[in-house]
Amino acid sequence: MTTSSAPGKIILFGEHAVVYGHPALAVPVTQVQATATVRASTGPGTWVEAPDIGLRSELSVLPAHHPLVTALNGVFTTLGISSHSPFTINISSTIPVASGLGSGAAVSVAMIRALSAFLGQSLSDEEVSALAYDVEKLHHGTPSGIDNTVIAYSQPVFFIKGQPIATFHVGAPFTLVIGDTGVSAPTKESVGDVRKLWEAEKTRTEKIFREIGKIAIQARERIVNGEWDKLGALMDANHALLQALTVSSADLDRLVDAARRSGALGAKMSGGGRGGNMIALVEKENAPAVAEALKSAGAKRTIVTQVG
Ligand code: MEV
Repeated sequence: MTTSSAPGKIILFGEHAVVYGHPALAVPVTQVQATATVRASTGPGTWVEAPDIGLRSELSVLPAHHPLVTALNGVFTTLGISSHSPFTINISSTIPVASGLGSGAAVSVAMIRALSAFLGQSLSDEEVSALAYDVEKLHHGTPSGIDNTVIAYSQPVFFIKGQPIATFHVGAPFTLVIGDTGVSAPTKESVGDVRKLWEAEKTRTEKIFREIGKIAIQARERIVNGEWDKLGALMDANHALLQALTVSSADLDRLVDAARRSGALGAKMSGGGRGGNMIALVEKENAPAVAEALKSAGAKRTIVTQVG
């Protein structure tokens, strides 16, 4: 039997603009995890079980473009395996779906690692990330690749689409409160709407992307230098630019305002937007008060996480 877990993720700065080649920063969130376990089957056939989504099916009857099938077939192809003994793969996750925490990429990474270990071969982080990216394409259409990268490497990443992975050092740890609107919002839709905006108003939209990219670069410098207390203003500015891209929502804005009013140093939506999660930068001792304020403002759940 082999088991593998993968963390969730949050985007600190740069979502959406990253799809157009601008830099973004993302970090793993280990408080939530996807887990995959592979066991040799006792009966015939290879089975896929994901009780969270009510799935129990033989692999051979699932459509070839199903995300779980794509993840498994990617492993077989990369390892050059054409036949294997029957197995059952069980998938579970504590990462809320369609909430900006990278649930799809984490499920793929956990499955890919559990299966390759079961087959007695290991894949590099780069190979795992590339295989998870193929699955991301089914989920999102035109993903930047940031989710599979930060989750496969499980380290803070400074990400530019198509460039080699760059991790960054966190000069001094800092605390974030993550607030979940409870509204599930597929990334594909918000990414698609930003594309329509870009097609209709290229000059204005590209200016917004460039400003977001500049914020991500400044933020990395501050994080590396341990000047995390200066990140709040950058988060607020990034949130305003995401509002201009139309990807925030009334629920996200309400939580962002509540965080700021309860003493957060800055706050922004995180991920695809329109729902899902927001993040607030806080002094560590203020985290419970901000989490409480987020709940009073309607957050369905909060996570306090330390970066670095
Ligand atoms: C989703 O976590 C982040 C987006 O920038 C999409 C992507 O990078 O593929 C919205």
